[in-house]
Amino acid sequence: MNKQTILALILAHILLFVPYLSKCQSKKINHSSDSFIDSLMIEMSIEEKLGQLNLISTFVRTGPFANKRGAEKMKDGSAGNVFNLMGNSSSIQSKLELAEDTRLDIPFLSGLDIIHGFKTVFPVPLGMSCTWDTTLIEKTARVAAVEGSARGYNWTFSPMVDISRDPRWGRVMEGSGEDPYLGSKIAKAMVRGYQENDLTRPDAIMACVKHFALYGAAEAGRDYNVADMSLLTMYQNYLPPYKAAIDAGAGSVMVSFNEINGVPATANHWLLTDLLRDQWGFEGFVVTDYNAIQELIEHGVAADYKEAAELALAAGVDMDMVSEGFVAYLKQSLDQGKITKEQIDTAVRRVLEAKYKLGLFKDPYKDFDPQRADRVTLTPENKNVAKLAAQKSFVLLKNDRQVLPLNENSKIALVGPFADNRAEMLSSWSPLGDVENIISILEGLKKRNPNVIYAQGTQVNNDTLFNKKRKGEFDIAMQKKLVNEALHIANESDVIVAVLGESKEMSGEAKSRTDISIPECQVELLKALKVTGKPVVLLMMSGRPLTIENVLQYTDATLAIWRPGTEAGNAVANVLFGDYNPSGKLTMTFPRSVGQIPIYYNHKNTGRPYVEGGEENYLSNYLDERNSPLFPFGYGLSYTTFSYDDIVLSDSLMTTESSILKVNIKVTNTGDVAGEETVQLYLADPVASITRPVKELKKFHKVFLAPRESKNVNFEITTDDLKFYNASLEYNWEPGRFIIYIGGDSQSVQRAEFVWQK
Ligand code: BGC
Repeated sequence: MNKQTILALILAHILLFVPYLSKCQSKKINHSSDSFIDSLMIEMSIEEKLGQLNLISTFVRTGPFANKRGAEKMKDGSAGNVFNLMGNSSSIQSKLELAEDTRLDIPFLSGLDIIHGFKTVFPVPLGMSCTWDTTLIEKTARVAAVEGSARGYNWTFSPMVDISRDPRWGRVMEGSGEDPYLGSKIAKAMVRGYQENDLTRPDAIMACVKHFALYGAAEAGRDYNVADMSLLTMYQNYLPPYKAAIDAGAGSVMVSFNEINGVPATANHWLLTDLLRDQWGFEGFVVTDYNAIQELIEHGVAADYKEAAELALAAGVDMDMVSEGFVAYLKQSLDQGKITKEQIDTAVRRVLEAKYKLGLFKDPYKDFDPQRADRVTLTPENKNVAKLAAQKSFVLLKNDRQVLPLNENSKIALVGPFADNRAEMLSSWSPLGDVENIISILEGLKKRNPNVIYAQGTQVNNDTLFNKKRKGEFDIAMQKKLVNEALHIANESDVIVAVLGESKEMSGEAKSRTDISIPECQVELLKALKVTGKPVVLLMMSGRPLTIENVLQYTDATLAIWRPGTEAGNAVANVLFGDYNPSGKLTMTFPRSVGQIPIYYNHKNTGRPYVEGGEENYLSNYLDERNSPLFPFGYGLSYTTFSYDDIVLSDSLMTTESSILKVNIKVTNTGDVAGEETVQLYLADPVASITRPVKELKKFHKVFLAPRESKNVNFEITTDDLKFYNASLEYNWEPGRFIIYIGGDSQSVQRAEFVWQK
């Protein structure tokens, strides 16, 4: 088929199907694409087909190698998709134009890890999740899509929806924490933000839900490690966010690196076909993670590269990221009868369908337009979203004697290695965030109060092994000098603001830690600062919950600010000076010590539950640690306080399956400043055919209250909210007694009971 024929085909399609096309974009398969793809596939050689299943990177970020001959492969059709295209607009354009040199002119999927913003960088996803604001989260994904599409990217490797109960795992930073209900809401919001329910839109980019599945359950929190889990826990607690993203229309799924119950996800037919396709009805395409096909050899399920490629295809993988096992071996495997033509065609069709759905056959460059890119990027509106997102992501963990907010005119000593550092406001997943566009914390505070004095105060980490691995060094003489400088300015000030915690090198992929405390050299600085007698405010930077029980004694106020992104300094200033009253709530439990991990609020009761402060012997507790977390899921203070009246139920006995139980609670702002509260509703099912968690988040509602104002918050419960997976993995509800808890976190709650009969 020559170019003219293809063009004619495309034109006919556009005329015939565009009205229908836009109507069914939100549906998973666009059947109007069938005939177009059929005709195209008839023309394709086996080499061209395998090229469509190949995704190459032109730039190394995480894996063992980059592709040195990338451009050549894109030109000869052996690499039909590319990610990490870096460089200026014209170099990106020249790469995308290589599709025009291929025989069939098939456009490229151009992917990138647009994880928490593009040029306008938002807080890391764990921070974003602490906003509990799905409208805002959707908006951040929208902004990222608009900015990214204008630079030539039509596919993002996001949302990352891996539930994790283990803060040792460095990638908890990229997800939404430990709860499947909140995680599912956020997953949907992000897919909507990227795809806008209409992938043909020029500024829509395709979402890729990852990492399927259970990547966050890596044993011992060590990255890439085994996940071994009962089907019940999997279905109930880990799978819902992936399913939610797929139900929201995510066009692609990325397979996780880990094995699941003995079979690596990349070769797991049960996972990628039985569950994903047959049970869930997913119709998009599946891509591996970076080099994962080759890694099947190390996993020990494939004897060689060729077998690894065959296993992955047979399991349900459609596209090979980086390993190039599909292009290298599948033709030979086909000739040998190890795989079938149908298997290849199915995968190719899914990839072509994705390109069709994105409208790439019509316009391979979508919204790519360097001039427009400048106009839509880092606009004041986008920066405003980033500022709001950062403010809302901060979680106030402690505020003794209302040290915060600060008086804007007070003499502030700002210390810490991250205080005057723009790059540290980003994460390892903000590849295109430019340092020059970031407002550092020092800059943000100085704009408001020119008398802020700054000293670095400490190096980041004195751990020998850490420094050796990261090729860093700890200099003892330098440390003394830095601490002295900090003490000097602290003594001159009214209040000390210390920006301490993890550097961006300390969380993210392959950044697992066994000790999740703030590095000792930083804590030593904090101790010394506390001795000055000046109030100490800790702005804690991290990509995970940290064990800070011993540190809290040296602070008067502690605000978790995660990694706040482009508008870091402005957001911090607004919160410190009280223009914005913090409202973030934790989405991962903060342990007291690493020995408590895994720790999560929706745990089981056990047959010998331990009640804090009660009898100690032969109960489910530790000899040397409390059971309770340092800060529970859902926790976060405000500059004001909220009180909750008793829960009012429309009935305490429900007798028909279709009834709706109305739940009402009056929440009052009992303080002197306006503030936003996230009212959280949890349910417990104390007697069921299988053991159930002590409580599970089922609803939440954000409410803004003026000082002394009260509002009634209403929820509705149906039998859908009572459902769970039983021992036969049927999703259903069982009649009986239920307990409702409502409050501002998962522990401080009001309680009411009801009975639901069939
Ligand atoms: C990560 C993925 C990422 C991919 C491409 C891998 O190492 O696990 O999350 O999308 O690299 O950059």
